[in-house]
Amino acid sequence: MGQRAIIILMKTSRLILIAAVLFLIAWLLVSQRDEFIVKPLRDLDSVREIAPGEWVDLVTAGHNIAPGTVLIPRKNAGVEFRSGVRPESRGFLSPEVCSECHAENYRGFLTTAHAITSQEPDDKSILGSFAEERSLLATRNPDLWFKMLADTTGFYQQLTVQKDRIHYTEKRSIDLVMGSGNHGQAYLSWEGDHLYQMHVSYLTESDQWVNSPGMYVDGTADFARPVPTRCLDCHATWFSEDSRTINRFDRSNYLLGVTCVRCHGPGHEHVAYHREHPGEEVGRQIVNPSGLSRDRLNEICAQCHSAGEPRAPSFTYRPGEPLSEYLELDLGADAPANEDPHSANQLARLMKSKCYIASETMTCITCHDPHQDQRGDTSGFSRTCQQCHQPETCREQKTSGSAINDRCVECHMPSRRDEQVSIEMKSGTLMALIRDHLIGKWPATSDRVRAKIAADAQSQARSARDTQQPQRDSR
Ligand code: HEC
Ligand code: HEC
Ligand code: HEC
Ligand code: HEC
Ligand code: HEC
Ligand code: HEC
Ligand code: HEC
Repeated sequence: MGQRAIIILMKTSRLILIAAVLFLIAWLLVSQRDEFIVKPLRDLDSVREIAPGEWVDLVTAGHNIAPGTVLIPRKNAGVEFRSGVRPESRGFLSPEVCSECHAENYRGFLTTAHAITSQEPDDKSILGSFAEERSLLATRNPDLWFKMLADTTGFYQQLTVQKDRIHYTEKRSIDLVMGSGNHGQAYLSWEGDHLYQMHVSYLTESDQWVNSPGMYVDGTADFARPVPTRCLDCHATWFSEDSRTINRFDRSNYLLGVTCVRCHGPGHEHVAYHREHPGEEVGRQIVNPSGLSRDRLNEICAQCHSAGEPRAPSFTYRPGEPLSEYLELDLGADAPANEDPHSANQLARLMKSKCYIASETMTCITCHDPHQDQRGDTSGFSRTCQQCHQPETCREQKTSGSAINDRCVECHMPSRRDEQVSIEMKSGTLMALIRDHLIGKWPATSDRVRAKIAADAQSQARSARDTQQPQRDSR
């Protein structure tokens, strides 16, 4: 009898315990819901749903987006745009087609930034972290923040605006990844068949999510910036646009990455010819840039690596043609180092250099091999300088000795903060570090590098002494 009472008591106390736990969970849920109600972002009065044309008026003309502003693209219903033009029909073949006969160029090319400058989103292509503790982008505005989300359905940027204990929120999907991540990445999102840039970008230098560069104001949210075709012209091989709009494309029909045909021209006739003539050893009906004049060769690169207003539709320039018919190039003596868009105007800067003017042979490929990843190979680039210069001609050698041999580009082609790529952070403004292609004498940079060389030499001498010390002691 006593035993039965104890068993019943144990059973009921277990029940009570379970009930208590359930109550606690329910209470927690209710109290949280009590604290913040979640509603769709579009319920918030101050959210502005705008069309692509309106964005241009609003942001570029005004430049003054007040704190707390939220811009989202207007939903567009209706039939999605389909272009009749397939890239293959224009000879814009994918690199895989070329790999059939050019395996080595293909493998090398895949390691370059061009190959991955635009990609589909996945957990490799997106460089920023989705881990809980690193996925938040807080802003100066305590009532507005972004969170990066990844699940089995995709990758998202979620915006939350807090007002009167309500969380107004919307998640927008990351549909295209722009940038290999040398400096950073931007993300694009489809609204129907219209393409928009997303508010949050990734900055490699500090390995974090940031407000996108250029006119994205900290403490606001802008998901309504239309992506113009020119952006894709520089970062992809092909997109089919609806030419009557700013940012409407055929979603089923594009080629990502800056690939072979953008530098070699359409390849369909070349491929057809060589498939029919397998014994042929001379390449036919394809552009080999090394056979072009210096200007025509550099212009292949300048279609994307220069500033200038387009004179013809995107994706119509063909390697070997004079670029000036497609682009109003600014290659004058006072062409700026940093001009919008953020392509750093490499050709114009290079053309101002004495090396370029006096050598008559210098082109972009004197130093760059488009089929190889050379990023960060400072000593390799410095060897290129020595094709034309003896290190002894550099007066710096008297001070710094042979330590300069691997470092020519550090003093003569410095990286500089680029005001065209400025990012507004909670903590202040940051500008991307971009290589200046004006090869010259840069006294301030040289002072810094000289000091670094001296410091390196000192620490080397010190560590050499340190490793010698124990040997002497053990004798
Ligand atoms: C069916 C085989 C085949 C395919 C596919 C192919 N090529 Fe070629 N290509 C050749 C042959 C053969 C040559 C001549 C030998 C050589 O230079 O490798 C050649 C030469 C070239 C040359 C040098 C031309 C010159 O004047 O020196 C370029 C550039 C080139 N191909 C680019 C491409 C590109 C880009 C693609 C893809 C769009 C491609 N090839 C696809 C067979 C092919
Ligand atoms: C269709 C546009 C386009 C063309 C043509 C083009 N580039 Fe680029 N290039 C880009 C873009 C976009 C990037 C930025 C890639 C990234 O990091 O996402 C880039 C990056 C580079 C880089 C930096 C690579 C790195 O890893 O740091 C070099 C060097 C370069 N290009 C050289 C050239 C040269 C040389 C040519 C001509 C032979 C050329 N490019 C032609 C668009 C182009
Ligand atoms: C005139 C050609 C051009 C246009 C237009 C252009 N870009 Fe670029 N972009 C470049 C080049 C060239 C680079 C490489 C700059 C460098 O490394 O010096 C680059 C770099 C970048 C990078 C950094 C890549 C990296 O790996 O660090 C991102 C992100 C980017 N662009 C996004 C965009 C977006 C988004 C647009 C359009 C909304 C756009 N770009 C428009 C040519 C262009
Ligand atoms: C950014 C521009 C660019 C891209 C992208 C590019 N090339 Fe080239 N390619 C060049 C230039 C410039 C030359 C001439 C310079 C040289 O010979 O190194 C060249 C030379 C060649 C040659 C002839 C010389 C050799 O190396 O055999 C072939 C073949 C070739 N490329 C194939 C390809 C293929 C295939 C792809 C894509 C998988 C590709 N290229 C991508 C710019 C490019
Ligand atoms: C194709 C040959 C060639 C290459 C490659 C070359 N240069 Fe030059 N460079 C010249 C010529 C020619 C001059 C003008 C005559 C002279 O001063 O020796 C010159 C001038 C210079 C000057 C003097 C600039 C001035 O404003 O007075 C510097 C500094 C220089 N080069 C550094 C470099 C560096 C660093 C590299 C590698 C990144 C390099 N050069 C690559 C040919 C070249
Ligand atoms: C005299 C050598 C030389 C020549 C010629 C040259 N470059 Fe470069 N370029 C460099 C060096 C060095 C770097 C830095 C590479 C690194 O540190 O990874 C560089 C970097 C770049 C980058 C990446 C810049 C950045 O900061 O992200 C681009 C893009 C580029 N070059 C394009 C071009 C184009 C386009 C041309 C022709 C107009 C050209 N280069 C001609 C030496 C050269
Ligand atoms: C620590 C910085 C530094 C390094 C590294 C460096 N230079 Fe220089 N270089 C200078 C400075 C500073 C001058 C200008 C000296 C003067 O005019 O008083 C100069 C001048 C030159 C000149 C112009 C000579 C003249 O008479 O006008 C050339 C060419 C040159 N350097 C080439 C090179 C080459 C090639 C390398 C690599 C082997 C190199 N430099 C490495 C700082 C450097």
